[in-house]
Amino acid sequence: MVIVFLGPPGVGKGTQCRLLAASSGLPHVSTGELFRKAVAQASDISQHVAARLSAGQLVDDRLVFDVVEWRLGQSDCRKGCILDGFPRNLSQAEWLDQWLAQRGRNVDLVIALNAAESELVDRLLRRASQEHRSDDTLETVRTRLALYRSHTEPLVDYYRRRGVLVEVDGLGTPEEVARRIRQAMDQRIGGTGPGDNREG
Ligand code: AP5
Ligand code: MG
Repeated sequence: MVIVFLGPPGVGKGTQCRLLAASSGLPHVSTGELFRKAVAQASDISQHVAARLSAGQLVDDRLVFDVVEWRLGQSDCRKGCILDGFPRNLSQAEWLDQWLAQRGRNVDLVIALNAAESELVDRLLRRASQEHRSDDTLETVRTRLALYRSHTEPLVDYYRRRGVLVEVDGLGTPEEVARRIRQAMDQRIGGTGPGDNREG
């Protein structure tokens, strides 16, 4: 099963993907985390990526595709995965469809989280005081939100037209949001309960 999490910065994609990965056994694939790791390891892509991340700009599609293809090709993704932060624009969504179709698969479910912009900004600035992500400054958060609206939000309609979209309110405690996601998944596909690591 391939599940995509969509939603603006700070809405809780990473938090919810981690919870769902723990309960479903599906691997959590976060392009943001892969890029942050690449920067920390001073790899050959780190300069370009570090600059894009700290400016709140998207990393070039070609680089994104290389990283995603490498990650999805790992054996733990054979049974599916939970995608966090990818796809992020139309060309990435089309690339993913094609990549999956070549392997007889498709995006099974898209969970779109949402919350008021003021809440998103509060959460990210709170995180800035706890963790040190180069992109959690007010200015960069604004850039990331604007990029989300212009490039990523159109994917909500893209997946709605496919009939795979579930919209979930991201407000409340992480546990409340997780419960909503679980309910929505149960209604839609019969759930991916603990230990339910179905192929596909
Ligand atoms: P990425 O890492 O994907 O960041 P993002 O989309 O900006 O989102 P965040 O990770 O900030 O937020 P989140 O929704 O995961 O929320 P979280 O659970 O952390 O991307 C970073 C950068 O990498 C991009 O800007 C781009 O440069 C590059 N990149 C990545 N993917 C790319 C792609 N496909 N193409 C091109 N470039 C790409 O929660 C946020 C905070 O709120 C946390 O502190 C958390 O503890 C807290 N929180 C979570 N849930 C709740 C809750 N319910 N109530 C209160 N607080 C909560
Ligand atoms: Mg995240």
